[in-house]
Amino acid sequence: MRSTLKILVIFVVTLTLCDGSRVLELTDKFAEIRRDGGHWLVMFYAPWCGHCKRLEPIWGHIAQTLYKTNIRVAKIDCTRFTGLAKEFGINGFPTIKFFKVDQDFTYNGDRTKEDIVNFALRMSSPPVQEITRPDSFVNIKSSNNVFFLYVGQREGPLWESYVQNAVKLQQYAFFYATSFDVASQHVTIEGDPAAMVCKENSCYFYTVESDADLDHINSTLNKWINEERFETFPKITRGNIHEIFHTKKYVVIAIVEENKLQQISPEMLEFRDMVESVIRKNRDKYHKHFQFGWIGSPELANSIAMTVLPLPYLLVLNSTTNHHHIPEDEPTQLTVDALSIFLEQIYNQSVPAYGGNSFPVRLYRTYFEARTSIGDMWKGNPVLTTVLFGLPLGFLSLILYSICCQDILDADEEDEETEPLLQHEKKE
Ligand SMILES: *[C@@H]1O[C@H](CO)[C@@H](O)[C@H](O)[C@H]1NC(C)=O
Ligand SMILES: *[C@@H]1O[C@H](CO)[C@@H](O)[C@H](O)[C@H]1NC(C)=O
Ligand SMILES: *[C@@H]1O[C@H](CO)[C@@H](O)[C@H](O)[C@H]1NC(C)=O
Repeated sequence: MRSTLKILVIFVVTLTLCDGSRVLELTDKFAEIRRDGGHWLVMFYAPWCGHCKRLEPIWGHIAQTLYKTNIRVAKIDCTRFTGLAKEFGINGFPTIKFFKVDQDFTYNGDRTKEDIVNFALRMSSPPVQEITRPDSFVNIKSSNNVFFLYVGQREGPLWESYVQNAVKLQQYAFFYATSFDVASQHVTIEGDPAAMVCKENSCYFYTVESDADLDHINSTLNKWINEERFETFPKITRGNIHEIFHTKKYVVIAIVEENKLQQISPEMLEFRDMVESVIRKNRDKYHKHFQFGWIGSPELANSIAMTVLPLPYLLVLNSTTNHHHIPEDEPTQLTVDALSIFLEQIYNQSVPAYGGNSFPVRLYRTYFEARTSIGDMWKGNPVLTTVLFGLPLGFLSLILYSICCQDILDADEEDEETEPLLQHEKKE
């Protein structure tokens, strides 16, 4: 009996260690500790927040993955240390921040392990990382879907501009630099200096006239980086859609539905593959003006289109005006040829545009989102929804009633009216 108990105790202790040991729980001492330097990845949370609870296991895995690096992974309970939350301007939970010496950066991408780990790794490195050996190039290529590379001497306008852009966009992309000798073992380069982006096994060059000055290089390089820093066919989410709008292109989105295990039905998969094949086979034709991608959560697409879309579906967004275009045909009937005509029509602006970003549209979108989420709540839990929305309404009408009918009502009657209702509420 006793030994069973002992085993049980050991088991429980190891379990809690495995579970929590890699994530440090911080207190308000953190304000001082961080001044000692070091790199911190911190989740600011509140115990009651549902999104925080969902992030909790992911945070454990992140801590495990980053354990061997110089990044310390921690969390702070903002309901206990409100001073810290105020100091760092936390106004939503969970907030993820990266701290180094005297700077901090807020993460605003998707809360997946891979994305957060990559963010932390980028922020803990210099904005431009050196590649000195040819074999590190191979490693980088296999671990990053998209990265930027500068080739040549560390001087001149292209280099200066590359560094400035890397500092500014370090949160979102990997920037490397290497010598002509190392790079030319992997990529065909005509000369240096050069800047390129490598994605999905191909590299594409940034081009500029040879007599361009720093200002010109600076602005065209920035534009080019924003156009190139996404995968050819990324998954689009609430976390990255605003970043994707920085491409300033038309965003062509295949909308399908993923279930909880991230599976997609064969019919929808076929549709998504069709859309993907258009950009993969015709990069030269579409890449300059169109960024392709797909959405796995119809709610996001519905809130863009402000209606409940049938699935699968196709939406094309104008990233500067936020207008959207929808094909005339049934999306399931859409062929590669029909899609290419549709994209041409969008480009020459001969198809109608919907939505946008004007005030009435934003208002309607807010209304639509509120209505949908109340609708979802109702489907999920009608009783709770009734209580949440019904009770305040009940009280409101009671108050209005007593204000309007004050002089008619007898004091005794009023007591009878309110008493049972309050008791009822306590039972709820
Ligand atoms: C170059 O561009 C970067 C990023 O867009 C900006 O921060 C920087 O001030 C610019 N530098 C010059 C010299 O224009
Ligand atoms: C979006 O709409 C504006 C105004 O109609 C237009 O000038 C622009 O070319 C469109 N396309 C993109 C990708 O912004
Ligand atoms: C726009 O493109 C479509 C499809 O290629 C073409 O039929 C149409 O004539 C074009 N419209 C204009 C105004 O260029």
